[in-house]
Amino acid sequence: PLKLGILASGSGSNFEAIAEAIASGELNAQIQVVIYNNPGAKVCDRARRWNVPAVFHDHRQYKRRQLDAQIVATLQEYDVEWVIMAGWMRIVTEVLIDQFPNRVLNIHPSLLPSFRGARAVEDALQARVKITGCTVHIAALEVDSGPILMQAAVPVMPDDTPETLHARIQVEEHRIYPRAIALAAQQAKNSP
Ligand code: GAR
Repeated sequence: PLKLGILASGSGSNFEAIAEAIASGELNAQIQVVIYNNPGAKVCDRARRWNVPAVFHDHRQYKRRQLDAQIVATLQEYDVEWVIMAGWMRIVTEVLIDQFPNRVLNIHPSLLPSFRGARAVEDALQARVKITGCTVHIAALEVDSGPILMQAAVPVMPDDTPETLHARIQVEEHRIYPRAIALAAQQAKNSP
């Protein structure tokens, strides 16, 4: 099984989708640890329900590289091989990326390379695109960039708000993230 470490800042619905895919046998993996950076993040309760250890690292206490060093230490402590950013709202540095070459994955709520950044859903609405979606990619140093593993398209409805659109995008996120993790592992095996 792939040994996953999940980084999440908020609700953790993607964590839950991955946990469910593992439980149903769709993804051959195990979640070693969840790392979160906001006290009271809902992902923490979800982790408890799935009996997954959750470790808090407060980004307010560290500079970016120091935070990543703390995270790397925890990931190593829990024997993690694949780092899965699932709603991780911090910019990561080479301190994390270099430790897990081609093994840090990210999900983003747009069809990259469109609408990078923290307001992707709002920005897509504002641009009046008719189709948006979500992307799973291998994380490079530049924010929301790196080789794309999987994407799903989501139509924008005329009466969409950021909330309604994001909710439909998340349905697709939950579907593709477990598959993209399996694909990344498959690709790594074929070209080590
Ligand atoms: C997801 O929609 C993810 O694509 C987005 O945050 C949400 C987290 O949801 N990520 C970003 O915007 C990264 N810049 P979740 O906590 O319920 O998984």
